[in-house]
Amino acid sequence: MSIALIVLAAGKGTRMKSDLPKVLHQIAGAPMLVHALRSAAPLEPERVVVVAGHGAEAVTAAATDHDDTAQVVLQTEQLGTAHAVAQAGPALDGFDGNALILYGDTPFILPETLERMVAARAQHDLVVLGFEAADPGRYGRLIMEGDALARIVEFKDATEQERAVTFCNSGVICADSTLLFDLVAAVGNDNASGEYYLTDIIQIARARGLSATAVACDEAETLGVNSRTELAAAEALFQARARSAATEDGVMMMAPDTVYFSFDTVIGGDTVIEPNVVFAPGVTVESGARIRAFSHLEGCHVARGGVIGPYARLRPGTELAEDVRIGNFVEIKNAVLDTGAKVNHLSYVGDADLGAGVNVGAGSVTCNYDGVMKHRTIIGAQAFIGSGTMLVAPVTVGAGAMTGSGSVITQDVPDEALALGRAPQVNKPGLARKLFEMLKSKKAKRDKGDV
Ligand code: UD1
Ligand code: MG
Repeated sequence: MSIALIVLAAGKGTRMKSDLPKVLHQIAGAPMLVHALRSAAPLEPERVVVVAGHGAEAVTAAATDHDDTAQVVLQTEQLGTAHAVAQAGPALDGFDGNALILYGDTPFILPETLERMVAARAQHDLVVLGFEAADPGRYGRLIMEGDALARIVEFKDATEQERAVTFCNSGVICADSTLLFDLVAAVGNDNASGEYYLTDIIQIARARGLSATAVACDEAETLGVNSRTELAAAEALFQARARSAATEDGVMMMAPDTVYFSFDTVIGGDTVIEPNVVFAPGVTVESGARIRAFSHLEGCHVARGGVIGPYARLRPGTELAEDVRIGNFVEIKNAVLDTGAKVNHLSYVGDADLGAGVNVGAGSVTCNYDGVMKHRTIIGAQAFIGSGTMLVAPVTVGAGAMTGSGSVITQDVPDEALALGRAPQVNKPGLARKLFEMLKSKKAKRDKGDV
């Protein structure tokens, strides 16, 4: 059965106190909206419709940036969740299958939970995701009759007796798409808020002799974000989950609470991550690598046996083959390093290709930027770059070649050649002693006040 995803993301999020639409606030390096889309991705939705309102332009950009097949529809006035769903109707015209409604500000629903809902659709016309709330607060209450869901009452409209119910509505609903829009069209706004409540479709469906049920999930999954405080709590929850998942997968962390993961970080088993490491988006580390303390990685790939840091920075486009070593205060950007290459101290390697076994000495720099354009540096296998070499790109150093320490290399170096690009050394016998004597007597005169 095909699935169409409808993500409600039109709300303003007043309590965020931000110009950014609420669903674009980030958790683990990705907007909340993207987390919601990702939680449904394993179900392989055939269609994705995002209902945008506040900050629609930015929401559209984020949605299509993540999934270029996503359609964004506009809800210019936020008249309620049923009204929001109705806006997705025309976009799903002719679609045959299940519609699954998610909220853009509810980032933690697990794919397995959504799969259970879709499975429950085989027996019921409507499936709602519920949870036992520790503090039910203002959530809508699910009124059950055995396995059947009789109706959902919003807190504002609930009686004392209904408010005592702790089984609450997460907002996630699964129903046949055509039926959903048919039911939504029948919803009115005669209630305490004067809003079109999506939750009313349950009662409408039951009155038509259709069936409804609720699938339960853990309350942590339905965590919604309404304020910066809740956003920080959501980030903490994400990090806690990511750290324990990594540990379960065989990753060793000495101080897991100091390691930050992104939504898409992939770390192989038997990798050691020392304290205070940040994985910004787009990082893959294969098994058996070691990421040493205080390193920052983004948009890069570290193959088996790599040792990174301490205090290393890997920027986007960094591709490290097996057993590459990147040491302290080294920055690598948009560069491919072949097996066993080493850049161990205080260097910058950007827009470069380094062959197998290349050794870059301390304090070397690929001068990749001429102030207007970026240029590439190519270093052949087993070449040795002496300490303090400035490689002025575009430039190629041949395989097995060497550059003398302190060289400024502006021309290509042939294979196996030694390149010296520095002023020749001159020794002046005894001149140091004379200079010292001269300077010392000058200082003595100054100290006496003679000068
Ligand atoms: C809703 C549910 C409530 C449930 C709770 C769970 C209804 C009537 N109530 O209440 O039963 O317990 O969520 O968090 O559905 N949105 C739009 N357009 C609108 C209105 C809302 O896009 O016109 C979006 C919001 O941006 C948000 C989501 O829908 O992502 C939920 O809206 P919200 O106003 O938070 O609903 P609640 O009152 O919390
Ligand atoms: Mg809400």
